[in-house]
Amino acid sequence: MQLLTPARIGNLVLRNRVVMSPMTRNRADAAGVVGDSTVTYYRQRASAGLIITEATNISAAAQGYMLTPGIWSEAQVEGWRRVTSAVHKEGGTIVMQLWHTGRVGHSEVRGGALPLAPSAVGIEGQMHFTPSGPKAYEVPRAMTTEEVEATIEDYATAAANAKRAGFDGVELHAAFGYLPNAFLVDNANQRTDRFGGSVENRARFVLAVMERLVAVWGAGRAAIRLSPTIAYNGMVDSDPLATFSYLIEKLNALPLAYLHLMRATPDATRFPHWPQDTVAAFGPLFHGPIILNGGFDRDGAEAAVTAGAAGVSFGAPFVANPDLVARLAADAALAKPNPATYYGGGDTGYIDYPVLAEAPAAAPGYWQVTARVTDPAGFGRYTAVAGPVLAAFGGQPIARGERFEALEGCATGRPYLVRFPSYAAARACFYSASYQEAIALRAETASFDIVVVEGMPA
Ligand SMILES: Cc1cc2nc3c(=O)[nH]c(=O)nc-3n(C[C@H](O)[C@H](O)[C@H](O)COP(=O)(O)O)c2cc1C
Repeated sequence: MQLLTPARIGNLVLRNRVVMSPMTRNRADAAGVVGDSTVTYYRQRASAGLIITEATNISAAAQGYMLTPGIWSEAQVEGWRRVTSAVHKEGGTIVMQLWHTGRVGHSEVRGGALPLAPSAVGIEGQMHFTPSGPKAYEVPRAMTTEEVEATIEDYATAAANAKRAGFDGVELHAAFGYLPNAFLVDNANQRTDRFGGSVENRARFVLAVMERLVAVWGAGRAAIRLSPTIAYNGMVDSDPLATFSYLIEKLNALPLAYLHLMRATPDATRFPHWPQDTVAAFGPLFHGPIILNGGFDRDGAEAAVTAGAAGVSFGAPFVANPDLVARLAADAALAKPNPATYYGGGDTGYIDYPVLAEAPAAAPGYWQVTARVTDPAGFGRYTAVAGPVLAAFGGQPIARGERFEALEGCATGRPYLVRFPSYAAARACFYSASYQEAIALRAETASFDIVVVEGMPA
């Protein structure tokens, strides 16, 4: 699979193109420091080609949610250093997502201070999760020009801290309505200084931040996440095509690692003037590598990478499948995450999702798998499988018997001896959906060849 091939994305080295999407899990302590469980959580997922951390507050003023981590204090840097070294020990690559929540916060989680935003325009029709339950959004306080400039420097400081914490790069969270996104779109940014008004002015903040990130990190290690066609958190631009096309074309002047693009499209009836195919509208504008996200499954991700995406990021699937890469490789079933334990709580729903059963050590050669993984009453050590299904799991027929056998309704079969690259691959093959299809088909046909997976362990 293309998805599982190594990649160089900017200056990031990925052992495969399966990216862990950033996910807020609200398991930091009250000082925004990540602890042992977070080290375990990321270590468990280090087989991803690239981990993008949960959004991480660049400053105390950036915080909008309870128990989210930061990267402004020494203790926070120290906590993250333990994460990066655990991931690196496993051979993984990890970048930090830098976060300023902007108006998507509440004074209750900000020591009484109102959220900060480009303009005093609140989010309507949504609630914010606070310690005392869901609350309507407040009207944020508009930042002064000096505060905007100071915030750009806060990003640079946070980026430098991320470097000290051992990350491989940083991603600016400029999606989903957080501060950078709010500067971009004209319903949230009604400023009259050089950070508001024209498209050029509205893009100034994001471009200035990206310049600082590149200055700190050098070429190919600073990235950006955009969601041009997602209205969440009140992001309704009058002309997203113009706004984001301008931004992306300007970003081309910077040596970025990648653009992390949300492919989600708006409700066509709600925003008929918005681009209805986000990837087609914006993807070709960016000259560097693109990582796509949003509801991808194995086949969709493979198709996206085959069509030119540098990688595909998975969110929810990584919550419940720490070994997502192995499962994709084996086309194994994916566990479903429990949304009730997404945000906050302890280790339950955080670091207790199991990996697929470890394959028992097997001698090199062939593996008698059928008796273990299929219904023994049904097939025993003989089974029927379509050639392409075998091939997809690396099964190679290495010998073919001469005799014809009549077995279980298969009138004309010749036995194959099949070698798999590993016991796990053989097992995955016989658990796969395509195998189940082959079995179903076998019930209707008499012309399948018979496969004998011969066990040779001593
Ligand atoms: C629990 C959870 C937390 C999330 N937190 C973040 C976040 O901190 N930053 C971000 O950019 N996206 C965040 N997202 C969005 C995901 O990165 C991703 O875009 C989304 O889940 C869609 O991808 P998927 O269909 O593969 O899950 C979060 C999603 C989930 C499920």
